[in-house]
Amino acid sequence: MKIVLASSEAIPFAKTGGLADVASALSKALAEAGHEVTLFMPYYPQLTAKRGLNPDDFEVCPEKVSITVGSKEVEAGLRKASFPESSVTVYLIDQPRYFDRPELYHESGRDYQDNCERFIFFSRSVLEFADKLGLSPDIIHANDWQTGLIPALLKIEYQDRPGFEKTASVFTIHNMAFQGQYWHWDMLLTGIDWKYFNRHQMEFFGQLNLLKTGIVFSDMITTVSPTYAQEIRTERFGYGLNGVLDTHADRLVGILNGVDPTEWNPEIDPNLAAHYNASTVTQGKPLCKAALQERMGLPQKPEVPLLGTISRMTDQKGFSLILDAAENLLATDVQMVFLGTGDPYHEASFTDLAKRFPNKVATYIGFDESLAHQIEAGLDIFLMPSQFEPCGLNQMYSLIYGTVPLVHEVGGLADSVVDASGENLENGTANGFSFWHFDSTVLYRQMRRAIDMYLDKPIWNQLQHTGMSKDWSWKQSAQNYLSVYQRAGSYRANNTE
Ligand code: ADP
Ligand code: GLC
Repeated sequence: MKIVLASSEAIPFAKTGGLADVASALSKALAEAGHEVTLFMPYYPQLTAKRGLNPDDFEVCPEKVSITVGSKEVEAGLRKASFPESSVTVYLIDQPRYFDRPELYHESGRDYQDNCERFIFFSRSVLEFADKLGLSPDIIHANDWQTGLIPALLKIEYQDRPGFEKTASVFTIHNMAFQGQYWHWDMLLTGIDWKYFNRHQMEFFGQLNLLKTGIVFSDMITTVSPTYAQEIRTERFGYGLNGVLDTHADRLVGILNGVDPTEWNPEIDPNLAAHYNASTVTQGKPLCKAALQERMGLPQKPEVPLLGTISRMTDQKGFSLILDAAENLLATDVQMVFLGTGDPYHEASFTDLAKRFPNKVATYIGFDESLAHQIEAGLDIFLMPSQFEPCGLNQMYSLIYGTVPLVHEVGGLADSVVDASGENLENGTANGFSFWHFDSTVLYRQMRRAIDMYLDKPIWNQLQHTGMSKDWSWKQSAQNYLSVYQRAGSYRANNTE
């Protein structure tokens, strides 16, 4: 199959969250399964440089296209890159006025005012370049609101163009909380006829909604875990679009994300003080714990339980619960490590916590991938009490690194973490701790429960082994995407106007 993926971020070029990991890892897994894969993303020279890559290393392609955005004609250039040992072609769409910025979506807590325009430009450029480069894709796989316009453009403008006669679209929702909603006049920027601005298609409560646009116009819709696929059809998790998703439920499938074993593997991870696998975890992991304690300025006490998290610091990730529960827990002999950026209120609370408990808590406000790897290897217990979690990657990274996750039983957390109940321990499926009532007292009790079990070494080792022995790679999930692509192709063939 010829597959085109479009994403606003992808590692190693730019990343703000899990989407970046998924866009690259899924592309690579599909290519490994024998498919011709092209990944499009914007070219962000400042972000790429910050990540230690030299933007000038990317080949400048001769092709250029002119894109109409509202009343403007804007030229898009193209650069080419690749992933080591992979056949995926990565094209980076170059337009400095939109993408040569110090951040990806916002600066100093404020969204860039032209985000709608930037990603309409990106969405149109993907299709224009697919045409210009003669890619004739079987599938265009768009991700999140930033590329929500692609399925609509494909249906409305491109489906009869040579090279696109068979192209079907798949749209993946990574988070219902981010919908790309803009005032109605931004409809003019899309270049799409006003007749599509109605409550069944692009309009939502008087505004242009790009996530809804992607959902409505794509041939198949996916989201990043089976549980989240169910949850988003309910009022609690649907962020207003539950009705729309219910209407399109026959085209909605949940596929759990995987993990890229070349990025997350404690046997080869270059960021770690020691390497280990399931059989050597009890030797290697304590060295990583000691190194983490040292780096974070905490006393090097091997036996003290070390809990923590790495995350965008937002309400989604349950930081208020963690703060409340930590206040109680810190009366006992524990240590905690926090890495994140986000909501200034959460950043300040966790910085303050570290100041109040300098020998027990260390907080690093910032985005630091090397430290993220060291935390995954050094912690004993990874906290992920998210209010909602479409998939979540860190609980899977934790499982692979022998760090036992403690999670709220929602979305992808429910699909990957099996609670250490008596029954699950007995049948060998337990790999972590999960709770249902979203409440800080409940979280506190779960932390205590996890720490008690941490002190029982044979049981703890069993939990670590179960997590580390499972295959968390993309192999199965990539196959599931391929079946969705087939279904999208059939849907497209049967529903051509
Ligand atoms: P989300 O995409 O909702 O933020 P995920 O769990 O899917 O959540 O993915 C988050 C990704 O971003 C993980 O790879 C995580 O390690 C990384 N990450 C989040 N915050 C930081 C940070 N401050 N420093 C380094 N990596 C981070
Ligand atoms: C979103 C979700 C997260 C998911 C990631 C990748 O950012 O919040 O749960 O893992 O996308 O799909």
